[in-house]
Amino acid sequence: MAQDRWQLTGDGPENYERHQVPGIAAPLARIFLEQLPLQPGQRILDVACGTGIVARQAASIAGAAGRVVGVDLNSGMLEVARRNTPAKGAGIEWRQGDARLLPCPVASFDVVVCQQGLQLFTDKIGALREMHRALAPGGLLGVCVWRTIEHSPCDLAIAQALARHLGAAAAERFQAPFGFGEADALRAAIAEAGFRDVDVRAVIVMRRLRSPEESIPGLLAGTPIGPLIAALDEVVRQALVAEVATALMPYRDANGLTVPQATHIALARK
Ligand SMILES: C[S@@+](CC[C@H](N)C(=O)[O-])C[C@H]1O[C@@H](n2cnc3c(N)ncnc32)[C@H](O)[C@@H]1O
Repeated sequence: MAQDRWQLTGDGPENYERHQVPGIAAPLARIFLEQLPLQPGQRILDVACGTGIVARQAASIAGAAGRVVGVDLNSGMLEVARRNTPAKGAGIEWRQGDARLLPCPVASFDVVVCQQGLQLFTDKIGALREMHRALAPGGLLGVCVWRTIEHSPCDLAIAQALARHLGAAAAERFQAPFGFGEADALRAAIAEAGFRDVDVRAVIVMRRLRSPEESIPGLLAGTPIGPLIAALDEVVRQALVAEVATALMPYRDANGLTVPQATHIALARK
């Protein structure tokens, strides 16, 4: 099994759910699913489901007549997803598996979604071919991939502070979700995997955070570099957060921070 770069260990999955989901993954999922849009009764596959935010929202829209399957490589993410399975809406099944070899029969879904996962896969075309295989004829693909990091001021500020305090390798690891940010490359990969009517849109999500001092340590704990941050000297950690706070000054408001973050949303048909 390919060891993809973006993997959380220990408390990482719980921290992802607590600190990354409310401020960014959940509002993004709402915008993403509206763009498709989903319909009641559909069979929906969420690839790289993580702690399950997209699958949960999809289940609420699909309703009792629908069905949702969430697949992720990481058993820790799936454990958190399982614990947060909603009682209402479509039933959700959580399956551990690699996007390159989806644990799903041929043509078994009406919609396949993948929020902020594709850019992390070592074999993107292979994963997209698997999504194509899992879709019923005429089925809908929705893929969400961050634009390059200069379109995400919060993550850019963090990456720059990480480069200064922890070095280029840590910054690089943190930035992996922003490494497939060109619309043309995304469109070409989806077409190469066999999809038609590929449509790539640029969309901005407003990320809401408490003050940097309160929010940045938690955000970092929900990323693969969480253990590196936890091992840092307290003085260095505070300096890092202070630098991010200074860079994000223009985004401060009465409640903390409101920072734009830009994604591509690609839609296509089997
Ligand atoms: C940034 S998280 C996004 C999670 C979720 N879609 C969301 O929006 O909150 C990326 C997820 O991709 C998963 N992942 C990475 N490589 C994978 C692969 N080859 N197959 C399946 N999942 C993978 C990680 O385990 C992680 O849960």
